[in-house]
Amino acid sequence: MSEKVALISGVTGQDGAYLAELLLSKGYRVDGIKRRSSSFNSERVDHLYEDPHKNDPRFRMHYGDLTDATNLIRLVQEVQPDEIYNLAAQSHVQVSFDTPEYTANADAVGTLRFLEAIRILGLGDRTRFYQASRPSSTARCRKCRSARRRRFIRDRPMGVAKLYAYWITVNYREAYGMHASNGILFNHESPIRGETFVTRKITRAVAAIEAGAEDCLWLGNLDAQRDWGHARDYVEGMWRILQQDTPDDYVLATGETHSVREFVELAFEQLGVPIEWRGEGVDEEGFDPRNGRVLVRIDTRYFRPTEVDLLLGDPSKAKRVLGWEHSTPFRQLVAEMVDTDMRSFRGSNTFQRRAIGE
Ligand code: NAP
Ligand code: GDD
Repeated sequence: MSEKVALISGVTGQDGAYLAELLLSKGYRVDGIKRRSSSFNSERVDHLYEDPHKNDPRFRMHYGDLTDATNLIRLVQEVQPDEIYNLAAQSHVQVSFDTPEYTANADAVGTLRFLEAIRILGLGDRTRFYQASRPSSTARCRKCRSARRRRFIRDRPMGVAKLYAYWITVNYREAYGMHASNGILFNHESPIRGETFVTRKITRAVAAIEAGAEDCLWLGNLDAQRDWGHARDYVEGMWRILQQDTPDDYVLATGETHSVREFVELAFEQLGVPIEWRGEGVDEEGFDPRNGRVLVRIDTRYFRPTEVDLLLGDPSKAKRVLGWEHSTPFRQLVAEMVDTDMRSFRGSNTFQRRAIGE
Protein backbone atom coordinates (compact mmCIF):
# COMPACT_ATOMS: atom_id res chain seq x y z
CA MET A 1 0.00 0.00 0.00
CA SER A 2 1.34 3.47 -0.86
CA GLU A 3 2.12 5.84 2.00
CA LYS A 4 -0.74 7.97 3.28
CA VAL A 5 -0.50 11.72 3.03
CA ALA A 6 -1.80 13.99 5.78
CA LEU A 7 -2.23 17.75 5.63
CA ILE A 8 -2.20 19.42 9.06
CA SER A 9 -3.23 23.03 9.57
CA GLY A 10 -1.85 24.53 12.80
CA VAL A 11 1.16 22.22 12.66
CA THR A 12 3.23 24.72 14.68
CA GLY A 13 0.76 24.53 17.58
CA GLN A 14 0.71 22.12 20.52
CA ASP A 15 -1.55 19.50 18.93
CA GLY A 16 -0.09 19.94 15.44
CA ALA A 17 3.37 19.09 16.72
CA TYR A 18 2.25 15.96 18.60
CA LEU A 19 0.08 14.83 15.68
CA ALA A 20 2.84 15.33 13.08
CA GLU A 21 5.16 13.22 15.25
CA LEU A 22 2.53 10.48 15.62
CA LEU A 23 1.69 10.32 11.90
CA LEU A 24 5.35 10.25 10.87
CA SER A 25 5.86 7.35 13.27
CA LYS A 26 2.99 5.57 11.51
CA GLY A 27 4.67 5.98 8.11
CA TYR A 28 2.64 8.92 6.80
CA ARG A 29 4.02 11.74 4.71
CA VAL A 30 3.05 14.91 6.54
CA ASP A 31 2.47 18.32 5.01
CA GLY A 32 1.98 21.09 7.54
CA ILE A 33 0.59 24.57 7.09
CA LYS A 34 2.27 27.38 8.99
CA ARG A 35 1.57 31.08 9.08
CA ARG A 36 4.09 33.58 7.95
CA SER A 37 5.47 35.49 10.93
CA SER A 38 8.31 37.97 11.32
CA SER A 39 10.16 35.63 13.67
CA PHE A 40 10.50 31.85 13.76
CA ASN A 41 7.30 30.15 14.92
CA SER A 42 8.21 26.53 14.25
CA GLU A 43 9.97 25.73 17.53
CA ARG A 44 7.60 22.86 18.36
CA VAL A 45 8.32 21.01 15.10
CA ASP A 46 11.98 21.93 14.56
CA HIS A 47 13.00 18.42 15.59
CA LEU A 48 10.94 17.05 12.67
CA TYR A 49 12.47 19.40 10.12
CA GLU A 50 14.00 17.82 7.04
CA ASP A 51 16.20 19.59 4.55
CA PRO A 52 13.84 20.50 1.69
CA HIS A 53 16.70 19.87 -0.77
CA LYS A 54 16.66 16.23 0.25
CA ASN A 55 14.85 13.91 -2.10
CA ASP A 56 11.21 13.43 -1.13
CA PRO A 57 11.22 14.60 2.53
CA ARG A 58 8.50 12.99 4.66
CA PHE A 59 7.78 16.20 6.56
CA ARG A 60 7.24 19.46 4.70
CA MET A 61 5.83 22.83 5.65
CA HIS A 62 3.95 25.31 3.49
CA TYR A 63 2.96 28.87 4.16
CA GLY A 64 -0.76 29.31 4.50
CA ASP A 65 -3.54 30.96 6.41
CA LEU A 66 -7.08 29.91 7.24
CA THR A 67 -8.31 33.35 6.22
CA ASP A 68 -7.08 32.87 2.62
CA ALA A 69 -9.35 30.59 0.57
CA THR A 70 -7.27 30.61 -2.62
CA ASN A 71 -4.22 29.58 -0.68
CA LEU A 72 -6.06 26.66 0.96
CA ILE A 73 -7.48 25.45 -2.36
CA ARG A 74 -4.02 25.52 -3.95
CA LEU A 75 -2.45 23.65 -1.04
CA VAL A 76 -5.11 20.94 -1.02
CA GLN A 77 -4.72 20.57 -4.77
CA GLU A 78 -0.93 20.31 -4.58
CA VAL A 79 -0.80 17.95 -1.62
CA GLN A 80 -3.79 15.71 -2.60
CA PRO A 81 -4.12 14.58 1.02
CA ASP A 82 -5.77 11.38 2.18
CA GLU A 83 -6.48 13.08 5.51
CA ILE A 84 -6.80 16.71 6.52
CA TYR A 85 -6.56 17.65 10.20
CA ASN A 86 -7.84 21.19 10.67
CA LEU A 87 -6.19 22.18 13.93
CA ALA A 88 -5.43 25.82 13.12
CA ALA A 89 -7.38 28.36 15.10
CA GLN A 90 -7.16 31.50 17.15
CA SER A 91 -7.45 29.24 20.17
CA HIS A 92 -7.30 31.61 23.14
CA VAL A 93 -10.62 32.35 24.81
CA GLN A 94 -9.65 35.71 26.34
CA VAL A 95 -8.08 36.87 23.06
CA SER A 96 -11.32 36.03 21.25
CA PHE A 97 -13.04 38.78 23.25
CA ASP A 98 -10.43 41.22 21.90
CA THR A 99 -10.40 39.95 18.29
CA PRO A 100 -13.90 38.55 17.71
CA GLU A 101 -14.02 39.25 13.97
CA TYR A 102 -10.65 37.68 13.24
CA THR A 103 -11.58 34.72 15.45
CA ALA A 104 -14.78 34.18 13.44
CA ASN A 105 -12.89 34.49 10.17
CA ALA A 106 -10.22 31.95 11.10
CA ASP A 107 -12.09 29.54 13.38
CA ALA A 108 -15.51 29.50 11.72
CA VAL A 109 -15.13 30.48 8.05
CA GLY A 110 -11.65 28.89 7.91
CA THR A 111 -13.29 25.50 8.41
CA LEU A 112 -15.78 26.21 5.64
CA ARG A 113 -12.89 27.16 3.32
CA PHE A 114 -11.28 23.75 3.84
CA LEU A 115 -14.53 21.88 3.26
CA GLU A 116 -15.20 23.91 0.12
CA ALA A 117 -11.66 23.23 -1.12
CA ILE A 118 -12.32 19.47 -0.86
CA ARG A 119 -15.66 19.86 -2.65
CA ILE A 120 -14.44 22.21 -5.41
CA LEU A 121 -11.46 19.97 -6.15
CA GLY A 122 -13.66 16.88 -6.34
CA LEU A 123 -11.74 15.16 -3.53
CA GLY A 124 -14.81 14.19 -1.51
CA ASP A 125 -14.26 10.48 -2.15
CA ARG A 126 -10.58 10.54 -1.33
CA THR A 127 -9.93 13.06 1.44
CA ARG A 128 -11.07 12.55 5.02
CA PHE A 129 -11.51 15.68 7.15
CA TYR A 130 -11.00 16.14 10.90
CA GLN A 131 -12.25 19.29 12.61
CA ALA A 132 -10.82 20.33 15.98
CA SER A 133 -14.00 21.15 17.85
CA ARG A 134 -14.41 22.00 21.48
CA PRO A 135 -16.92 21.37 24.24
CA SER A 136 -19.76 23.80 24.62
CA SER A 137 -23.13 22.22 25.18
CA THR A 138 -22.15 20.60 28.46
CA ALA A 139 -20.63 23.78 29.85
CA ARG A 140 -22.19 25.81 32.63
CA CYS A 141 -21.96 29.57 32.21
CA ARG A 142 -22.26 31.72 35.34
CA LYS A 143 -23.94 34.66 33.62
CA CYS A 144 -26.28 32.61 31.44
CA ARG A 145 -28.94 31.90 34.01
CA SER A 146 -31.86 30.74 31.94
CA ALA A 147 -31.69 27.31 30.39
CA ARG A 148 -32.61 28.75 26.99
CA ARG A 149 -29.82 31.31 26.99
CA ARG A 150 -27.47 28.72 28.34
CA ARG A 151 -28.25 26.54 25.37
CA PHE A 152 -27.70 29.17 22.70
CA ILE A 153 -25.30 31.86 23.91
CA ARG A 154 -22.31 29.71 24.63
CA ASP A 155 -19.45 31.20 26.44
CA ARG A 156 -17.39 33.43 24.21
CA PRO A 157 -16.66 34.62 20.65
CA MET A 158 -14.38 31.66 20.13
CA GLY A 159 -17.03 29.24 21.36
CA VAL A 160 -19.54 30.67 18.92
CA ALA A 161 -17.07 30.49 16.01
CA LYS A 162 -16.22 26.90 16.89
CA LEU A 163 -19.90 25.99 17.02
CA TYR A 164 -20.23 27.15 13.41
CA ALA A 165 -17.18 25.03 12.51
CA TYR A 166 -18.74 22.03 14.23
CA TRP A 167 -22.08 22.35 12.45
CA ILE A 168 -20.67 23.14 9.00
CA THR A 169 -18.61 19.95 9.28
CA VAL A 170 -21.76 17.98 10.12
CA ASN A 171 -23.56 19.74 7.27
CA TYR A 172 -20.96 18.84 4.62
CA ARG A 173 -20.97 15.25 5.84
CA GLU A 174 -24.75 15.06 5.47
CA ALA A 175 -25.16 17.18 2.35
CA TYR A 176 -22.24 15.88 0.26
CA GLY A 177 -21.46 12.54 1.89
CA MET A 178 -17.98 13.67 2.86
CA HIS A 179 -15.90 11.75 5.39
CA ALA A 180 -15.90 14.73 7.78
CA SER A 181 -15.74 14.28 11.55
CA ASN A 182 -15.53 16.43 14.66
CA GLY A 183 -13.35 15.67 17.64
CA ILE A 184 -14.90 17.43 20.63
CA LEU A 185 -11.83 17.65 22.77
CA PHE A 186 -11.81 18.73 26.38
CA ASN A 187 -8.77 20.67 27.61
CA HIS A 188 -5.50 18.95 26.89
CA GLU A 189 -2.15 20.24 28.01
CA SER A 190 1.53 19.33 27.83
CA PRO A 191 5.00 20.79 28.31
CA ILE A 192 4.56 22.52 24.92
CA ARG A 193 1.18 24.07 25.76
CA GLY A 194 0.92 27.79 24.85
CA GLU A 195 2.34 29.89 27.67
CA THR A 196 -0.82 31.91 28.34
CA PHE A 197 -3.17 28.97 28.99
CA VAL A 198 -3.61 28.60 32.71
CA THR A 199 -1.78 25.29 33.20
CA ARG A 200 1.40 26.39 31.44
CA LYS A 201 1.22 29.83 33.02
CA ILE A 202 1.23 28.09 36.41
CA THR A 203 4.04 25.63 35.65
CA ARG A 204 6.27 28.33 34.15
CA ALA A 205 5.65 30.60 37.13
CA VAL A 206 6.43 27.79 39.58
CA ALA A 207 9.74 27.19 37.76
CA ALA A 208 10.54 30.91 37.80
CA ILE A 209 9.70 31.25 41.50
CA GLU A 210 11.90 28.27 42.31
CA ALA A 211 14.80 29.95 40.52
CA GLY A 212 14.19 33.27 42.26
CA ALA A 213 13.32 35.08 39.04
CA GLU A 214 9.70 35.75 40.04
CA ASP A 215 8.14 36.07 43.44
CA CYS A 216 4.43 35.63 42.83
CA LEU A 217 1.92 34.02 40.45
CA TRP A 218 -1.07 36.22 39.49
CA LEU A 219 -4.25 34.40 38.46
CA GLY A 220 -7.96 34.94 37.84
CA ASN A 221 -10.70 32.47 38.76
CA LEU A 222 -9.18 29.79 41.01
CA ASP A 223 -12.41 27.83 41.24
CA ALA A 224 -12.89 27.13 37.52
CA GLN A 225 -12.83 23.39 36.95
CA ARG A 226 -11.51 21.68 33.85
CA ASP A 227 -11.26 18.16 32.46
CA TRP A 228 -7.51 18.21 31.77
CA GLY A 229 -5.75 15.47 29.78
CA HIS A 230 -2.41 15.12 28.00
CA ALA A 231 -2.22 16.30 24.35
CA ARG A 232 -0.08 13.28 23.43
CA ASP A 233 -3.01 10.97 24.25
CA TYR A 234 -5.52 13.15 22.41
CA VAL A 235 -3.77 13.18 19.02
CA GLU A 236 -3.99 9.39 18.99
CA GLY A 237 -7.77 9.82 19.34
CA MET A 238 -7.84 12.27 16.39
CA TRP A 239 -6.10 9.73 14.20
CA ARG A 240 -8.46 6.95 15.27
CA ILE A 241 -11.47 9.11 14.40
CA LEU A 242 -10.30 9.34 10.78
CA GLN A 243 -9.60 5.59 10.55
CA GLN A 244 -13.30 4.73 11.01
CA ASP A 245 -15.22 3.58 7.93
CA THR A 246 -18.06 5.93 8.84
CA PRO A 247 -17.49 9.56 9.77
CA ASP A 248 -18.90 10.66 13.12
CA ASP A 249 -18.32 13.02 16.05
CA TYR A 250 -16.56 11.97 19.25
CA VAL A 251 -15.83 13.43 22.67
CA LEU A 252 -12.27 12.95 23.93
CA ALA A 253 -11.93 13.66 27.65
CA THR A 254 -10.65 12.10 30.85
CA GLY A 255 -13.99 12.06 32.68
CA GLU A 256 -12.37 13.79 35.69
CA THR A 257 -12.41 17.43 36.63
CA HIS A 258 -10.01 19.51 38.74
CA SER A 259 -9.95 23.14 39.78
CA VAL A 260 -7.31 25.73 38.91
CA ARG A 261 -6.64 25.86 42.67
CA GLU A 262 -5.86 22.11 42.73
CA PHE A 263 -3.54 22.53 39.75
CA VAL A 264 -1.66 25.28 41.61
CA GLU A 265 -1.33 23.16 44.76
CA LEU A 266 -0.03 20.14 42.83
CA ALA A 267 2.41 22.26 40.82
CA PHE A 268 3.98 23.78 43.95
CA GLU A 269 3.99 20.32 45.54
CA GLN A 270 6.56 19.32 42.90
CA LEU A 271 8.96 21.75 44.64
CA GLY A 272 7.99 20.45 48.07
CA VAL A 273 6.14 23.72 48.77
CA PRO A 274 2.76 23.38 50.51
CA ILE A 275 0.12 26.00 49.63
CA GLU A 276 -2.61 27.19 51.99
CA TRP A 277 -5.29 29.75 51.18
CA ARG A 278 -6.64 32.74 53.10
CA GLY A 279 -8.90 35.69 52.31
CA GLU A 280 -11.82 35.81 49.92
CA GLY A 281 -12.61 36.91 46.37
CA VAL A 282 -10.02 39.26 44.91
CA ASP A 283 -8.24 39.37 48.29
CA GLU A 284 -7.63 35.65 48.39
CA GLU A 285 -3.99 34.59 48.42
CA GLY A 286 -2.02 31.36 48.47
CA PHE A 287 0.89 31.19 50.89
CA ASP A 288 3.55 28.83 52.18
CA PRO A 289 2.51 28.10 55.80
CA ARG A 290 6.11 27.31 56.78
CA ASN A 291 7.27 30.91 56.32
CA GLY A 292 4.15 32.92 55.45
CA ARG A 293 5.49 33.84 52.00
CA VAL A 294 2.67 34.78 49.59
CA LEU A 295 3.08 32.92 46.30
CA VAL A 296 -0.31 33.31 44.58
CA ARG A 297 -2.45 36.43 44.24
CA ILE A 298 -5.58 37.39 42.31
CA ASP A 299 -5.60 39.92 39.47
CA THR A 300 -9.06 40.83 38.19
CA ARG A 301 -7.60 41.33 34.69
CA TYR A 302 -7.62 37.57 34.35
CA PHE A 303 -11.34 37.22 35.02
CA ARG A 304 -13.34 36.49 31.88
CA PRO A 305 -16.35 38.59 30.79
CA THR A 306 -18.26 35.29 30.80
CA GLU A 307 -16.86 32.26 32.54
CA VAL A 308 -17.45 28.56 32.12
CA ASP A 309 -17.21 27.31 35.69
CA LEU A 310 -17.06 23.61 35.03
CA LEU A 311 -16.07 21.33 32.16
CA LEU A 312 -16.39 17.57 32.47
CA GLY A 313 -16.50 15.26 29.46
CA ASP A 314 -17.91 11.80 28.89
CA PRO A 315 -15.48 9.83 26.69
CA SER A 316 -17.49 6.57 26.76
CA LYS A 317 -18.35 6.62 23.04
CA ALA A 318 -14.68 7.10 22.11
CA LYS A 319 -13.79 4.16 24.34
CA ARG A 320 -16.51 1.94 22.92
CA VAL A 321 -16.10 2.73 19.21
CA LEU A 322 -12.49 3.88 18.86
CA GLY A 323 -10.97 1.89 21.72
CA TRP A 324 -9.49 5.21 22.87
CA GLU A 325 -8.74 6.13 26.46
CA HIS A 326 -6.52 8.78 27.98
CA SER A 327 -3.54 7.26 29.72
CA THR A 328 -1.85 10.08 31.66
CA PRO A 329 -3.09 10.62 35.23
CA PHE A 330 -3.63 14.26 36.24
CA ARG A 331 -0.81 14.19 38.79
CA GLN A 332 1.62 12.87 36.18
CA LEU A 333 0.61 15.59 33.70
CA VAL A 334 1.28 18.34 36.25
CA ALA A 335 4.60 16.78 37.28
CA GLU A 336 5.78 16.45 33.67
CA MET A 337 4.93 20.08 32.91
CA VAL A 338 6.61 21.48 36.03
CA ASP A 339 9.66 19.30 35.53
CA THR A 340 10.12 20.37 31.90
CA ASP A 341 9.74 24.05 32.73
CA MET A 342 12.20 23.77 35.61
CA ARG A 343 14.76 22.10 33.35
CA SER A 344 14.37 24.55 30.48
CA PHE A 345 14.41 27.46 32.88
CA ARG A 346 17.66 26.31 34.44
CA GLY A 347 19.13 25.81 30.97
CA SER A 348 18.47 29.40 29.87
CA ASN A 349 20.32 32.49 31.02
CA THR A 350 17.34 34.75 31.27
CA PHE A 351 13.72 34.03 31.97
CA GLN A 352 11.55 35.37 29.21
CA ARG A 353 8.85 37.46 30.78
CA ARG A 354 6.21 36.55 28.27
CA ALA A 355 3.53 34.85 30.31
CA ILE A 356 1.88 38.03 31.45
CA GLY A 357 -1.69 38.59 30.39
CA GLU A 358 -4.69 36.41 29.63
P1 NAP B 1 -2.47 26.22 19.57
O1 NAP B 1 -1.27 25.66 20.27
O2 NAP B 1 -2.91 27.60 19.89
O3 NAP B 1 -2.19 26.11 18.00
C1 NAP B 1 -2.98 26.77 17.05
C2 NAP B 1 -2.30 26.67 15.71
O4 NAP B 1 -3.10 27.37 14.74
C3 NAP B 1 -0.91 27.32 15.67
O5 NAP B 1 -0.09 26.55 14.80
C4 NAP B 1 -1.21 28.68 15.03
O6 NAP B 1 -0.09 29.25 14.37
C5 NAP B 1 -2.26 28.26 14.01
N1 NAP B 1 -3.07 29.36 13.51
C6 NAP B 1 -3.74 30.30 14.21
N2 NAP B 1 -4.42 31.12 13.39
C7 NAP B 1 -4.15 30.69 12.13
C8 NAP B 1 -4.54 31.12 10.85
N3 NAP B 1 -5.34 32.19 10.66
N4 NAP B 1 -4.09 30.44 9.77
C9 NAP B 1 -3.25 29.38 9.92
N5 NAP B 1 -2.84 28.93 11.10
C10 NAP B 1 -3.30 29.58 12.20
O7 NAP B 1 -3.74 25.28 19.81
P2 NAP B 1 -3.78 23.72 20.20
O8 NAP B 1 -3.89 23.61 21.67
O9 NAP B 1 -2.74 22.99 19.46
O10 NAP B 1 -5.23 23.32 19.66
C11 NAP B 1 -5.40 22.82 18.34
C12 NAP B 1 -6.85 22.97 17.92
O11 NAP B 1 -7.69 22.27 18.83
C13 NAP B 1 -7.35 24.41 17.93
O12 NAP B 1 -8.27 24.54 16.86
C14 NAP B 1 -8.08 24.54 19.26
O13 NAP B 1 -9.08 25.54 19.23
C15 NAP B 1 -8.67 23.15 19.37
N6 NAP B 1 -8.90 22.73 20.75
C16 NAP B 1 -7.88 22.72 21.64
C17 NAP B 1 -8.11 22.31 22.94
C18 NAP B 1 -7.00 22.27 23.95
O14 NAP B 1 -7.30 22.13 25.14
N7 NAP B 1 -5.75 22.35 23.55
C19 NAP B 1 -9.40 21.88 23.31
C20 NAP B 1 -10.42 21.89 22.36
C21 NAP B 1 -10.17 22.30 21.07
P3 NAP B 1 1.08 30.03 15.20
O15 NAP B 1 1.95 28.94 15.78
O16 NAP B 1 1.72 30.84 14.16
O17 NAP B 1 0.37 30.83 16.26
N1 GDD C 1 -5.59 31.66 30.78
C1 GDD C 1 -5.85 31.89 32.07
N2 GDD C 1 -5.02 32.74 32.77
N3 GDD C 1 -6.90 31.27 32.65
C2 GDD C 1 -7.09 31.49 33.97
C3 GDD C 1 -6.28 32.33 34.73
C4 GDD C 1 -5.20 33.00 34.09
O1 GDD C 1 -4.45 33.77 34.70
N4 GDD C 1 -6.73 32.32 36.01
C5 GDD C 1 -7.77 31.48 36.05
N5 GDD C 1 -8.02 30.99 34.81
C6 GDD C 1 -9.12 30.10 34.44
C7 GDD C 1 -9.95 30.61 33.26
O2 GDD C 1 -10.87 31.62 33.69
C8 GDD C 1 -10.61 29.31 32.81
O3 GDD C 1 -11.77 29.08 33.57
C9 GDD C 1 -9.59 28.22 33.16
O4 GDD C 1 -8.61 28.85 34.01
C10 GDD C 1 -8.88 27.62 31.96
O5 GDD C 1 -8.41 28.68 31.13
P1 GDD C 1 -7.48 28.38 29.85
O6 GDD C 1 -6.33 27.55 30.24
O7 GDD C 1 -7.19 29.70 29.20
O8 GDD C 1 -8.39 27.44 28.94
P2 GDD C 1 -9.92 27.52 28.48
O9 GDD C 1 -10.66 26.43 29.19
O10 GDD C 1 -10.48 28.89 28.61
O11 GDD C 1 -9.81 27.20 26.93
C11 GDD C 1 -9.05 26.06 26.49
O12 GDD C 1 -9.86 24.92 26.41
C12 GDD C 1 -10.92 24.98 25.46
C13 GDD C 1 -11.64 23.63 25.49
O13 GDD C 1 -12.34 23.48 26.67
C14 GDD C 1 -8.44 26.40 25.11
O14 GDD C 1 -7.53 25.37 24.75
C15 GDD C 1 -9.49 26.49 24.04
O15 GDD C 1 -8.85 26.60 22.75
C16 GDD C 1 -10.34 25.22 24.07
O16 GDD C 1 -11.39 25.36 23.15
